[in-house]
Amino acid sequence: MNDFLTDVEMARIRAPLNEGWTLPPAAYTKAEVFQREKRKIFYREWVCVAREEQLPEPGDYRAVAVIEQPLIVVRQKDGSIRAMSAICPHRGMPVIESHGRAQHFSCPYHLWKFSLDGALVSAPLMDEVAELPSDCRLPPVKVETWQGFIFVNLDPNAAALHERLPALNELVGAYDMQDMRIAGSIDYNCPWNWKLLIENFMEAYHHIGPHNVSLQGTYPARRSYVSGSVEQGWSVLHMPSVEAHAEDDLLPPGPGLNTTQSKQTLASVILPGFCWINTPAVAFWYELKPATHDNMTLTIHALAPKEMLEGDTQGAAGQLLLEVIKGIHDEDIPVNQGPWQGMHAPLTSQGRLSHLEESIWQINQWWAERMAIDE
Ligand code: FES
Ligand SMILES: [Fe+2]
Repeated sequence: MNDFLTDVEMARIRAPLNEGWTLPPAAYTKAEVFQREKRKIFYREWVCVAREEQLPEPGDYRAVAVIEQPLIVVRQKDGSIRAMSAICPHRGMPVIESHGRAQHFSCPYHLWKFSLDGALVSAPLMDEVAELPSDCRLPPVKVETWQGFIFVNLDPNAAALHERLPALNELVGAYDMQDMRIAGSIDYNCPWNWKLLIENFMEAYHHIGPHNVSLQGTYPARRSYVSGSVEQGWSVLHMPSVEAHAEDDLLPPGPGLNTTQSKQTLASVILPGFCWINTPAVAFWYELKPATHDNMTLTIHALAPKEMLEGDTQGAAGQLLLEVIKGIHDEDIPVNQGPWQGMHAPLTSQGRLSHLEESIWQINQWWAERMAIDE
């Protein structure tokens, strides 16, 4: 098939769930696989880079990136959001590296000036050269918003993101993340392969292990089940609760939820790497930023309904939510690190999946299909 997946390994990945296998160790440990993932996946697919509320006013901008591609997301004067390369078309300097509010962007190197939509406005001391080409600007990048999240796609021919999501909207729309705001954020450095984090994120089978005390009682592994679409590239792990949530009094379920929704927590992914949790009252966005095959940063953002945050000037709600999610993530870190070590062991191999790991199976189908495409 190719130099990192043998035909046997691919056949195992492609087998139906009840005969399904994990990816082979090399899919995690080899730098060449990540090089291929960049070309086949990250630079062609929709990647979430920010929340709309991070750009509340015209001129508000943010430096973001899709791995090695620095980008600017910026709110225009008409209220729309645009995305563009942050790399100056003169000699390659990043035009901005932070966030703020601006009337225009000025490259710090030779002060070429760009409007908020990326057009070149002026270039000092360039009057003795021939006219610059008309496409001399900050190259535009596709952008879409969904549920308050801003997605970009480096492929100008990519199909629209929202066309993939009608069935997902049925499942998660009522949780109303559009009307939530970031209540607090926490950063982690994760020196392991990005797929291990997503796989762990997308199964509740391990509640019987590292979360035996924290989660297994309320969200038993055996009750979890999966919705999703390999074709549309998303998966939802449903975790029905067996008892009223202990925090119900503090955090009432969102008003639009039906009985099932108000008694379950969801972990979801829009592939390749947009991961989030919906509880009946709040949400957590796991912002994954893969850097190399063996490293990524993770920022966990707690999201709460904006009404909940209005009177909360001290940020107490955010602190509380972050403490809860930090407790869970601390239990997950060893079961990311362990398999990362394990993937390097000479006697390790592909492993069989449980029916409770259906999301991993779905993710693997999507991944294998894209990675197998020849240039
Ligand atoms: S590199 Fe930007 S103006 Fe020269
Ligand atoms: Fe976990």
